[in-house]
Amino acid sequence: MSILVTGGAGFIGSNYILDWLAECDEPVINVDKLTYAGNPHNLAAVKDKHDGYSFVQCDINDYDQIVQLLKKHGIRAIVNFAAESHVDRSIHRPEDFIQTNIVGTYRLLEAAKEHWGALPEEDQEAFRFLHISTDEVYGSLEPDDPPFREGDCYRPNSPYSASKASSDHLVRAYHQTYGLPAIIVNCSNNYGPFQLPEKLIPMCIFNALSGDPIYIYGDGQQIRDWLYVKDHCKAIRLVLDQGLAGKTYNIGGEAEKTNLQVVHAICEILDRTTPGSGGNSYAEQIEFIKDRLGHDRRYAIDTTMIKNELGWKPDQTFEAGIEKTVAWYLANQDWVATATGVSYKTWVETHYKK
Ligand code: NAD
Ligand code: TYD
Repeated sequence: MSILVTGGAGFIGSNYILDWLAECDEPVINVDKLTYAGNPHNLAAVKDKHDGYSFVQCDINDYDQIVQLLKKHGIRAIVNFAAESHVDRSIHRPEDFIQTNIVGTYRLLEAAKEHWGALPEEDQEAFRFLHISTDEVYGSLEPDDPPFREGDCYRPNSPYSASKASSDHLVRAYHQTYGLPAIIVNCSNNYGPFQLPEKLIPMCIFNALSGDPIYIYGDGQQIRDWLYVKDHCKAIRLVLDQGLAGKTYNIGGEAEKTNLQVVHAICEILDRTTPGSGGNSYAEQIEFIKDRLGHDRRYAIDTTMIKNELGWKPDQTFEAGIEKTVAWYLANQDWVATATGVSYKTWVETHYKK
C-alpha cells in the first residue's frame, strides 16, 4: 500500500515527503500541478534516488487521472496539501483560490469517495483523507481573546481563508454524509526550509541579504503563531496514524509573535552571522508600507486536544527554529535562486513596487 500526497512540491508538502521517506517504509506518490509555488528542486534529494518516491504532474481537479492513480497504487491514505496559499495573491486574484481550494478539493473528495467505496470493508475503515487547513478559517482575535479551539465558529476574512473554510466544510460534509473517513488539521503559520520568499520570514531573509527593503504592512503589530515546519510534519504523521475519522485537530507552535518581533529576530541573527559591510544593522532596511486589505490582527492556537489525545507537542522553540531557518537559507543560496526567478520577480514588481 501507498499514500498519495497532493501539493508535495510546495513548502509544507515537500518537507512532509522528505520527513515521511526518512521515517517510514511506505511509498509515497506526489501529485502536484506545479504552479508557480511548486518547486521540483525541493525534492532533489529523493527524485530518482529513493525507490519509495514517485511524482505525477496532475491537477487535483482532474478527477479521472486521480481515480486512476488511487487504484493503480492501492492508495490507503490521501494527504491533501494542494492549494493556493498566499493571502496577498488571493486579494489580487481570488479566482485560482476558488478553482483549486474549493472546486479542486471537491473533485479530489469525489475521486477519494469513488476509490474508497470500492475497497474491502476493513480497508474502508482504515482509509484516511487528511485535509491540511489553516487557523485563518477562524478569523481574527482581539488581544485578550482565548486562542482558537476546535469547534470555534468559522469567520474567514480573506479570499484565501474563505476558500480554505469552504474546503473544510466540504471535507466535513463528505464524512458526515458519505462516511468518508476524513480528518482536518488546522495549523498556524509554518516556517522553515523551502518556503517561497513571498511569505514574511523568507521575504525578510531574502530581502535583507539582497539589500532590498524589508516590507512591513501597517504598524507591524499583527500577531501570528509560528510553527517550525518539521513539527507540523510530525503532527500530521501522528494524526494520520492515530487520529479519529471525522475529527479536527488544531496544531500550533505556542509562539505568538508580532510581525515586527519576527523581523527583528531575523535581523539580529543576520547581524551576528552575516554582518553587512559598513556595520549597519539589517533592521535599517525595514520599510513600513500600506496595510494589507482586511488584515487579520491576531491568530493563536489552543493545542490542548492534540496534546491530550495524541501526545504531540512542538519540539522547536521559535528561537531555535528561526536560527535553523536563517542558517538553512544562508546555506542554500542555490535553492533560493530557483525560487526567485521570473515569476517571483513579476510578483514583487506587481505587488510591492506598483
Ligand atoms: P505552497 O503554496 O508552498 O504549495 C502548494 C503546492 O500545491 C504547490 O506545490 C502547488 O504547485 C500545488 N498546487 C496548487 N494548485 C494545485 C492543483 N490544482 N493541483 C495540484 N497541485 C496544486 O503551500 P504551503 O505553504 O506548502 O501550504 C500547504 C497547505 O498547507 C495548503 O493547503 C495551505 O492552505 C496549508 N497551510 C499552510 C500554512 C503555511 O504557513 N504555509 C499554514 C497552515 C496551513
Ligand atoms: P504571510 O507570511 O503572508 O502569512 P499569513 O498572511 O498567511 O499570516 O504573512 C505573515 C504576516 O506578515 C501577516 O500579518 C502579513 C505580514 N507581512 C508583512 O508585513 N509584509 C510582507 O511583505 C508579507 C509577505 C507579510
